[in-house]
Amino acid sequence: MSKIIIKNLEKSFGNNKIINNFNIDIEDGEFIVLVGPSGCGKSTLLRMISGLENIDRGEIFLDQKLINNLLPSKREIAMVFQSYALYPHMNVFENMSFGLKMERIKKSEINQKVNNAAATLQIEDLLKRKPKQLSGGQRQRVAIGRAITRNPKVFLFDEPLSNLDAALRSEMRVEISKLHKKLKSNIIYVTHDQIEAMTLADRIVVLNKGNIEQYGTPNEIYSDPNNIFVAEFIGSPKINILKIEKENVINSNTLNIFNNKITFNNFEFKDEIYLGIRPEDINLDNNHEIQVNVKIDLVENLGFEKIIYTKSFKNQIIIKSSKSIKENSFKISFSKDKILFFDKDKNRIR
Ligand SMILES: Nc1ncnc2c1ncn2[C@@H]1O[C@H](COP(=O)(O)OP(=O)(O)OP(=O)(O)O)[C@@H](O)[C@H]1O
Ligand SMILES: [Mg+2]
Repeated sequence: MSKIIIKNLEKSFGNNKIINNFNIDIEDGEFIVLVGPSGCGKSTLLRMISGLENIDRGEIFLDQKLINNLLPSKREIAMVFQSYALYPHMNVFENMSFGLKMERIKKSEINQKVNNAAATLQIEDLLKRKPKQLSGGQRQRVAIGRAITRNPKVFLFDEPLSNLDAALRSEMRVEISKLHKKLKSNIIYVTHDQIEAMTLADRIVVLNKGNIEQYGTPNEIYSDPNNIFVAEFIGSPKINILKIEKENVINSNTLNIFNNKITFNNFEFKDEIYLGIRPEDINLDNNHEIQVNVKIDLVENLGFEKIIYTKSFKNQIIIKSSKSIKENSFKISFSKDKILFFDKDKNRIR
């Protein structure tokens, strides 16, 4: 049996349905990352799991126990917020021990739990400081430490690193990954950061308007997306989507792609379709089946690689490459095996 099972979860605010028939199974110890556009219901979902928000319909099971009606403090779930939510007048030790004190746990046990958590996060030296005397990264550690002292079965993280600068963010990302390996608890983690999603997750949930578009490993989400929404969501810069009009469907398995006649075995094209090709799968050469003449619009130099914005007729084609370019117009090419196809409703067909 799965560790966490969420069945037919629904939530509306007034007439707005926020979460729509949400179903998910999470295995013991899995690190789940939730991604989706702003306002799609990620925080609401975490709040429902933690017990901070009422549920309209559906069931949440933890270790086969229905927890819908349990108070947040009884759920064995701890939440870490984007804003850290530390008490400004309390020092780090008091912040980390507050919840335990409320539960009337013995002082000696509280000391031990706080000291253990502080050691895990390497913040032992900060226990007497107030939050305003800490850097963003240190505050984040305290917020995580406070969650650890509860020894929860599940950690919920709502964009925990979004207030940090890029360097600290990468550092904390690695820390969280190590922490997960050490504690082996389940983590459900919300982020807008693709690198966090791809590197931290055992499985990613892609949410859109309260519906799950796809639930799979980072590799499945990247290489085998269910639809254009998912394909565009993961990958940077995002996948090129080009429409192939009906007149370019030569016969059921041959397409005219930028004046290249390409046959795809075991497939039937009928209507207009969408072709998806990732910027990193396009080459600055003519070594692959599909060749296109393009003109440069703009080049962004990232040092180790370049993002090259090109045009072929009306289509924009974005390329990611470490090679340098000298001319303004040149040939690019890609292999037909790298193409993803989507039907006119934007669902994946191949
Ligand atoms: N208490 C509330 N009352 C009414 N509407 C709410 C309430 N809380 C959230 N909403 C609405 O529910 C929707 C989902 O909000 P939620 O905070 O879950 O989004 P999110 O996916 O976490 O977005 P973000 O990425 O911006 O944090 C939004 O349209 C929001 O305005
Ligand atoms: Mg949110």
